[in-house]
Amino acid sequence: MFSRRHFLKAAGQGIALTAVGVRATPSASAAPLAQASPFALPTPIAQEQSAFLINGRTFTTAYEARTTLWEVIAVKLGLTGTNRSCNKASCGACSVLIDGVPFYSCHTLAMEAAGRKILTIEGVGDEKNLHPLQRIGHERVAADCGFCTAGWVVTAKGLLDTNRNPSEDQVKAALAGHICRCAAYPSIVSTVMDSAAVLRGENRPVVEPHSIVHIKQPMVRDFSTHGGHSAGDELIERPSGTSTKKWQGYAPENLKVIGRSMPPLEEVAIPRFTGKAEYASRVRFANMLHARFLTCPHPRARIRDIDTSVAENMPGVAHILTYKNAPAVRVKPDTTTTGPVVTTPNGNRLVPAALPRDMNLQGEVVAIVAAETEDLAEDAIAAIKVDYDVLPFVSTIKDVLAPGAPDLRGGKGNLIRTWESKAGDVERGFAEADIVKEFEYHFAGAVSVPMQPSGSVAKWDGDRLTIWGMGQGIYPVRNALATSLGIEPSKIRFINKWNGSTFGSGRLAAERFYPLMAHLAKVTGRPVKVMLPKDQELAQLLIKPETLTRFKVGAKKDGQIVALQHEILLSVGDVETGYHASGPGNATNQLELYTSGVPHWKSVWSAYKTNAPRPGPSRSYIQQETKWSWEAMMDEMAETLGLDPIEFRLKHITRPKAGDDRYPYDSFASVEVLTEGARVFGWDKRTAKAGAASGRFKRGMGLGMTQHHGGLMGYHEGEAAFPALAAAPDASVFGSEIEVGSDAMLNDAVRMPQNGVAVVGPGDGPMACGEFGPGRMAEPETIFQAIQAALAGGGRLGGKHVIVTAGPTAEPIDPVRVLTNRSSGKQGYAIAGALADLGARVTLVSGPTALPAPAGVTRVDVESAQEMLAACRAALPADAAVFVAAVADWRPDEAFGVKLKKSHDGPPTLRLVENPDILASLAAKGARRPKLVVGFAAETNDLIDNARAKLAHKGADWIVANDVSQDWIMGGDENEVHLVTKKGVDTWAKASKAEVARRLAGKIAEALS
Ligand code: FES
Ligand code: FES
Repeated sequence: MFSRRHFLKAAGQGIALTAVGVRATPSASAAPLAQASPFALPTPIAQEQSAFLINGRTFTTAYEARTTLWEVIAVKLGLTGTNRSCNKASCGACSVLIDGVPFYSCHTLAMEAAGRKILTIEGVGDEKNLHPLQRIGHERVAADCGFCTAGWVVTAKGLLDTNRNPSEDQVKAALAGHICRCAAYPSIVSTVMDSAAVLRGENRPVVEPHSIVHIKQPMVRDFSTHGGHSAGDELIERPSGTSTKKWQGYAPENLKVIGRSMPPLEEVAIPRFTGKAEYASRVRFANMLHARFLTCPHPRARIRDIDTSVAENMPGVAHILTYKNAPAVRVKPDTTTTGPVVTTPNGNRLVPAALPRDMNLQGEVVAIVAAETEDLAEDAIAAIKVDYDVLPFVSTIKDVLAPGAPDLRGGKGNLIRTWESKAGDVERGFAEADIVKEFEYHFAGAVSVPMQPSGSVAKWDGDRLTIWGMGQGIYPVRNALATSLGIEPSKIRFINKWNGSTFGSGRLAAERFYPLMAHLAKVTGRPVKVMLPKDQELAQLLIKPETLTRFKVGAKKDGQIVALQHEILLSVGDVETGYHASGPGNATNQLELYTSGVPHWKSVWSAYKTNAPRPGPSRSYIQQETKWSWEAMMDEMAETLGLDPIEFRLKHITRPKAGDDRYPYDSFASVEVLTEGARVFGWDKRTAKAGAASGRFKRGMGLGMTQHHGGLMGYHEGEAAFPALAAAPDASVFGSEIEVGSDAMLNDAVRMPQNGVAVVGPGDGPMACGEFGPGRMAEPETIFQAIQAALAGGGRLGGKHVIVTAGPTAEPIDPVRVLTNRSSGKQGYAIAGALADLGARVTLVSGPTALPAPAGVTRVDVESAQEMLAACRAALPADAAVFVAAVADWRPDEAFGVKLKKSHDGPPTLRLVENPDILASLAAKGARRPKLVVGFAAETNDLIDNARAKLAHKGADWIVANDVSQDWIMGGDENEVHLVTKKGVDTWAKASKAEVARRLAGKIAEALS
């Protein structure tokens, strides 16, 4: 157990400041503590009161002698930009400058820094006045999750304040005390080098962000890019290849970020550099309680009794939870497991509920203390007495297979489940083989540790709960928590805005304790925060588990495998169902990758209960921990047969096979990946024989590949809902991230219309809670229009689908500049609304406007003409299409990935190229042409002649012409139009755009009836 008391004992009293990197030296002025012995602590802890000079301001606060500088800065004074991660003087996240020298604030006593000049990230620069390190760091993409960012930026500033011309080695040495789990190191170093140049006054050229990979995608030539399609998916043939309905008709080339260098969105990235990204760990309230855990020191034990009476009466302790008084966590019924589990709404079962009485893991949580400070909570933890019945345990596969291994499942044996798949007759195959070899591979297990401490903050306002958490999901997590607490999901607001790299495992380590944090906040009436110390977090993070894999392979002399036996044994901790315990899941992808041509094969999967940490998502799950052994086997088998490893793989990679439903593929990217990869890496130039290279130092080249498709990754889960989406034409789903659990969200969304429920809103804008975005009540007028539209559902255009385009297009020049026009979109929106009022199903493809979508209309937002064309095509089939949008005739030949800057060479030259003609494209003859195609002609001269010419050239049925030389039309509320058809010209008197829309909608209804 780590605590400040132990810290003081360990550190001694003269070694209080912990310096970063190689520049810093312990301060000679570090004042010794008042006590003489490093092992004697004052009881009670001495109180101090000091002035702290932080970022040029003076703060005065009281604190305990053992309080760290981080606690004073981030907790007491509310300068939350300085992150704390390891709390062990190892990662650098908490770095601040003290008198210009970087120190780890988590291992610097506050009293040592009192009265000295302290600089935190808040003093480096803010969004209005970014320091070059922050600005260039953003452009260089030097922050991914951003949890390490504040720390290294401060250290780098300390370096550049004293050395404006550091060498790269000096930069690396200065930052040596910083860990970036996202491994943004190259961009971090180049950010510091470029910032130094800017501070020296050099005019550095704008350089593309380093971490952007230019995706050339050789595999995207002529098939879909998402790893195959499912039976029944609609395939769409297009000039650039085949895509499926899942892609909504957007061909890969229209994914406009691919192949371009773009810095991340400013609103997302800049707060990471200024210390303002609101990780749950940065959330702070003045009256907040802090929770700490007491954990079990034994791998397996039962708690006979637990005594918290002393701890409960200690100073600052608000509440203590143990198995005795913890609330029952409600769970969804799970018929496959014996104990209580936390479940997600989509049925994934996760881990046993927190605070069990039976301990199956060293580090399992025994008690939770909520107190005024973390230190006071730890004091109380130390005073809790636990009487354990310590039991025999098994933590490894070797132990679990050993004769007489303790039975963890009450007489049922430790083997939880086996799963088998096979084809042919393996024994016959081995009998036919010329060569038979056996291989065994062991993976000891691994865990991805996030920078951000797993944790959360819970706060009640009346019967409404707000939880700040971490992870990949929002709604599924909220729903699971609502189930656990037995309240309506609408009573919970779950905030998960930024994450300090969760890697999957961090989410669940935090999520397991949300119900208990909510309970603590409820019973104490105060916000409660927990941030797990790294040593405790390690027991909670879900890991890639230990695996033992055995292969027996039989092959002919020409290298063809004719028989393959695959056996895999996993340690799954105390998780008896779900994830690794339920079956191989996506791990079978690797089996599928190599066995389509193998006549006889068998694969057996066995999951064993152990006292090891629980397996689960940890940068994917049931993937690398099992797939790697296949690659080792393929290499060893190739060597046995004297074949090149690539040749051997190509011999076995899956091809289509009638009747084998394991292969939902329409393409074989694996073949291209291998051949293209071999070419790029210079495989033919490698030293094929191990150790044959000359010289003392040998270099080799190896190969490993993996295949993943259609499993439980978030985007695939999301895909699962698209068929339902397609079947629910009135539903639109807008999401920033298709992630784990999104299927539930999508399914919920698409089910609504199927249940006869029409959804209006929410509106976009500022909300009472201070957030800005979609969440406001829809405007009364919008609701009224929706009711009108719903009542007109059986109107003259009932059952008809009409596409309407509206607004301008915006053609990007660089990330901030566009080529556009003055169209307001008002006429197009009015027409869409009028058509919906007549009962039509309307898809409004809109360029950038400030207008709300008319009620009952499905709006698809686009920017460029190319996107508009793709969206219109995706919306087909349609009965009619009305092209009102003012589409830019030209676009810049190339959109620059970074903002163009002024330079001495004068303004840049833009070359324009023609945009696609949307009207002509959709009006072209073909099976998918809408029955009625209406174009708009905005002309400034020869109005009718130009409209007639357009009617003829574009293949439209009608042209609505208006004279935009009259300055009241573009952007105004009125219009004066001429309806030009093959039969003649019908001139309509000046009227409101709404009236013009109603009249045109009436005409369209007439034409389609
Ligand atoms: S070094 Fe202080 S939090 Fe890691
Ligand atoms: S960006 Fe460095 S840890 Fe994530």
